[in-house]
Amino acid sequence: MPAPTLPDLLAALAADATVEGGAPFLHLAADHFARTAAEAGPVSAGRPARELAARFDEPLPQGIRPLGAVVDRLARDVLPDVNRLSHPMYLGHQVSAPLPVAVWSDLVISAVNNSQAVREMSPVTTPIERRLIAWMAELAGFGAGAGGTLTSGGTEATLTALLAARAALRPGAWQDGLTGPPPVLVAGEHAHYAVSRAAGVMGIGAAHCLAVPSRDHRMDPGALETMLTGLRREGREILAVVATAGCTATGAFDDLEAIATVCERAGAWLHVDGAHGASALLSDAHRHRVRGIARAQSLAWDPHKMMLLPLAAGAVLVRDVEALGRAYAQRAPYLFHEADEADTDLGPVSFQCSRRADALKVWVALQRYGADGIGVLHDHLCALTSALHDRVAARSAFEVLHRPESNILCFRYRADDAFNASLRARYNRSGHGWITATALDGRRVLRVTVMNPRTTEAHLDRLLDGLEAEAHRMVAGRDVAGSSGRALES
Ligand SMILES: Cc1ncc(COP(=O)(O)O)c(C=O)c1O
Repeated sequence: MPAPTLPDLLAALAADATVEGGAPFLHLAADHFARTAAEAGPVSAGRPARELAARFDEPLPQGIRPLGAVVDRLARDVLPDVNRLSHPMYLGHQVSAPLPVAVWSDLVISAVNNSQAVREMSPVTTPIERRLIAWMAELAGFGAGAGGTLTSGGTEATLTALLAARAALRPGAWQDGLTGPPPVLVAGEHAHYAVSRAAGVMGIGAAHCLAVPSRDHRMDPGALETMLTGLRREGREILAVVATAGCTATGAFDDLEAIATVCERAGAWLHVDGAHGASALLSDAHRHRVRGIARAQSLAWDPHKMMLLPLAAGAVLVRDVEALGRAYAQRAPYLFHEADEADTDLGPVSFQCSRRADALKVWVALQRYGADGIGVLHDHLCALTSALHDRVAARSAFEVLHRPESNILCFRYRADDAFNASLRARYNRSGHGWITATALDGRRVLRVTVMNPRTTEAHLDRLLDGLEAEAHRMVAGRDVAGSSGRALES
């Protein structure tokens, strides 16, 4: 086939840019929403990885293909095997059944393709991002001097916050690197790996990331105080203490008031990883869980988790915007402008250079549903999880492991680790639902995260019925790989 000519390509670009060109994609996405809401098809087809890899094992495409053929391929080879996060029985990881209006906004964001690095490249979306950050900082109680930036998620937000903490502690570190004994980073033992990853990235070394023991899956403030006192006695510098608001495994919230008091006494920077739980700030019923958050120096908060935004929408907020300015202590006069406050670029405070205007989809979602509306959805997810807790507790086949504080619940089928692992795998393969698993207190446990407001209590009953039925089949067949096959523990 001859290579495409430029006139042919320009004609294809023109045709694809029309409503007729875009409509098939819009229809695919809307059809995906409609079919998942109607619970058509499996939550996850669970086809073997090898089979899916073989489906796409093909030479690099050459030449222009008809748009219809490309859309058909998407419909035939891709969409049937995606995980259906908008299905009410999707109860897996902390990734949302996305707010539809934000999904459509994603299309607009890509169409305009303004980059947030430099204000002159994003004349409208830079002030929108600044406004969004100001709203979020206000909700956190950070005061007038606060600042921040959107990020790809909690991992980047925590890295950026800890770079700001490093600049405050070791102002020369950006230029000269870390000299002398590295400072330590202190976090609860249930902290997300983003924290030790940041220690590795910053050259502090993951070995200098110390874990504070937990009580009831939250950092023990007494143990933190003992650790900080010991470190001071040894002459060790403390880069920051990282508290977690909404821990990944259980959704538990650290006691931020108590931790802030300990940090203030020790003069330590407090970073709150609220990637999952900071959205409680939108909720009258749950705001108390993050009491004390205003005393932190920095906060990671992911709208793409409990605000139900599609990936990616994360944020880092700091109480003192100047501190964030020192996190990436670079000048790039060929790109960035020194200007007045309303006219500064966001690039200097972001790890990313070219960056999507994700602020726009968060802004549109707030325009459409309101902060209070998103708070209602947040509370609904938490209430469903509480209802699941009560149902698990009422069934003798299961063991409850904690009271949910947000939308995450861990529990076990009364059997050994291997049985629980197989049960989850088999249930997910059935296509009837999809849950996760984690390790908690040294045991393999089942884990549910309710991320879809269309899930109802009837779906939760169906989940437990489905797990019990699968477990009975396993016991009947004695085909539990690696397990004794012993089901009900007495
Ligand atoms: C508590 C917590 N922090 C950080 C992260 C990482 O966030 P992201 O995946 O957006 O980088 C997660 C993700 O699950 C999390 O639960």
